[in-house]
Amino acid sequence: MTTGKFLSFLLIITALLRATNGLPVPSNNQFYYASQGNINRDLKIGDLNFIHTTDTHGWLGSHPNEINYNADWGDFISFTANLKQTITANKTRDFLLIDTGDKYDGNGLSDASLPHGKYSTAIFNKQDYDLLTLGNHELYTENNTIMEYYETAKNSKFKGKYISSNVEFVDNNLDGKLVPFGDKYAYFQTENLKKRILAFSFIFDFQRINSRAKVTPIKEEITKEWFQQVIQRYDETQVDLIIVFGHLPITDVENREINYLHSFLRSVYPNIVIQYFGGHSHIRDFVQFDAKSTGLQSGRFCETVGFLSITNNSKDDSFPQFHRRYIDFNLRSFNYHLSNLGGLNIENSNGAEVSEEISKIRKKLNLDEVYGYIPQNYYMYYEPLTSKKNIYNLLINKILPTLEVKHPTIPRYIMINTGAIRYDLYKGVFTKDTQYIVSPFGNEWNYIKLPSKLASKISDKINKGPVVLNIPEAHIFDISDDGKCPFRHKKGLVKGYTTYDSYGCKGDDTIHNSLGYYEVPNVIQYTDDTTNDDTLVDFIFYSFLKPNILSAINNINKDMKVTSHFFTDDDCFYYGGLSTQDLLRRYFEQFL
Ligand SMILES: *[C@@H]1O[C@H](CO)[C@@H](O)[C@H](O)[C@H]1NC(C)=O
Ligand SMILES: *[C@@H]1O[C@H](CO)[C@@H](O)[C@H](O)[C@H]1NC(C)=O
Ligand SMILES: *[C@@H]1O[C@H](CO)[C@@H](O)[C@H](O)[C@H]1NC(C)=O
Ligand SMILES: [Zn+2]
Ligand SMILES: [Zn+2]
Repeated sequence: MTTGKFLSFLLIITALLRATNGLPVPSNNQFYYASQGNINRDLKIGDLNFIHTTDTHGWLGSHPNEINYNADWGDFISFTANLKQTITANKTRDFLLIDTGDKYDGNGLSDASLPHGKYSTAIFNKQDYDLLTLGNHELYTENNTIMEYYETAKNSKFKGKYISSNVEFVDNNLDGKLVPFGDKYAYFQTENLKKRILAFSFIFDFQRINSRAKVTPIKEEITKEWFQQVIQRYDETQVDLIIVFGHLPITDVENREINYLHSFLRSVYPNIVIQYFGGHSHIRDFVQFDAKSTGLQSGRFCETVGFLSITNNSKDDSFPQFHRRYIDFNLRSFNYHLSNLGGLNIENSNGAEVSEEISKIRKKLNLDEVYGYIPQNYYMYYEPLTSKKNIYNLLINKILPTLEVKHPTIPRYIMINTGAIRYDLYKGVFTKDTQYIVSPFGNEWNYIKLPSKLASKISDKINKGPVVLNIPEAHIFDISDDGKCPFRHKKGLVKGYTTYDSYGCKGDDTIHNSLGYYEVPNVIQYTDDTTNDDTLVDFIFYSFLKPNILSAINNINKDMKVTSHFFTDDDCFYYGGLSTQDLLRRYFEQFL
């Protein structure tokens, strides 16, 4: 097909997809193969091959409004099974499947059930992981921790495969004794090449933890007796490869935990390949630590399947070859790579049953219940705050003003933290699921009575301070290329990641149009106050922000040498009204 013909074909496909209201097209749809031309970068199979996922946050049921990520967990299971079969068919290579945690908070499939994860945990565990562990979102609530421990860490399917080197569980059946959350490490041989692997899994120094678990910082854990014994027993003569997979960013400019760990391991193992798999900061990333060590991080929300291969991994060879690829989580990419390697398509493979089960669960949880219609895309980072395509612009101008008025004659400020929004809104139906996706956190509205001239200074004060997130999670958003990779704007290509990493700009399997990236402030607000004097206003805010607001007000007063009143919890009152999720829902109802 010529390029011109191909582009017009793409436009027809796009139109067809729109006509289905953005819902996923069945996987046997021939049009997917027609648009294969979007993919330009293949997988380079090596001796050791890895597929890595991280930070799935419940997104096992696909992305109904985004064709770029239209595969579900069943498709992913079919993909990896067929890929493994293809790669290891003549028993000359190995294949390992790894996940690095964060399975809650972000999607109705995990968060709309009581307890959370009731259905999604079983679905996640259908994947045949060789190595897996937990993230901080398995550690905020007791319910999540208990579910993770008993359903996954202690699951016989994952015996010897569920590893956490620095997390412990508080076992109430043993009088609250601390027990390892899975195994502390693994030592095993690969199936075909018989490579001897020593694996550890560390989580970053997470301290906002519930009472049923304990995290020991890496620096401290590696001084413990058990760790010292392991590295003595499995010295360089006993190990061909070290794998460190865990819930920590591989680029960590602030705390450098992974760099500390690497220096330590390299001092013990100067000649061995050390391969890291990371997570938590929700980006695609690849880092070369030294000639024999790299790290891969595979994005978030089932948007990315990370692929890594290592060739010539032997102690005598001073130049192991590493290859990384970020595969878009969609049917077209999955089938492209399989067919390219001479493997089977994913249709009618073993994951189909899982896809069916997911549909049933979505039905049971009513996730597809349609509340409204979203007429266009709204982005968190890809459009500036001033743009009508920016989700915060929508909130400021259209959503927050609709909060029910409590005191009709009094001017209002209505403030939320931008971290309360978790995902973009895509054109298509607005469902029960959309509510969990866009803003999963429960909050209520509080207010303080303040003179206008004080209220008007709060947002500046908070926006100049340190980052405020709804949960203490480091999101380093280098989603776009930071200007380091060429900007692409070509008709017919889907918008998506252009990842810049240690190996350059060519890691993504699909060549996308570039996404712009704009910083967002800590907080945004709507106001109808124009006075800026001593007029009393209602300063309304999300309860989560209370400590930030009180500290901002007291600091402003201090700056202005006003000492008449120190603001505390006693000055904050309940305002009431619909949550942001419900205000959004009411807004999009009108377009149905
Ligand atoms: C195994 O298969 C791969 C490609 O599928 C080929 O390159 C390799 O030479 C084969 N090895 C053997 C021992 O047959
Ligand atoms: C924890 O799970 C129990 C049992 O399903 C449920 O009743 C309870 O509401 C959950 N607690 C929280 C805080 O979600
Ligand atoms: C692997 O090692 C062999 C022998 O040392 C060498 O000929 C070959 O080029 C190496 N391959 C790669 C990909 O480094
Ligand atoms: Zn996460
Ligand atoms: Zn995390």
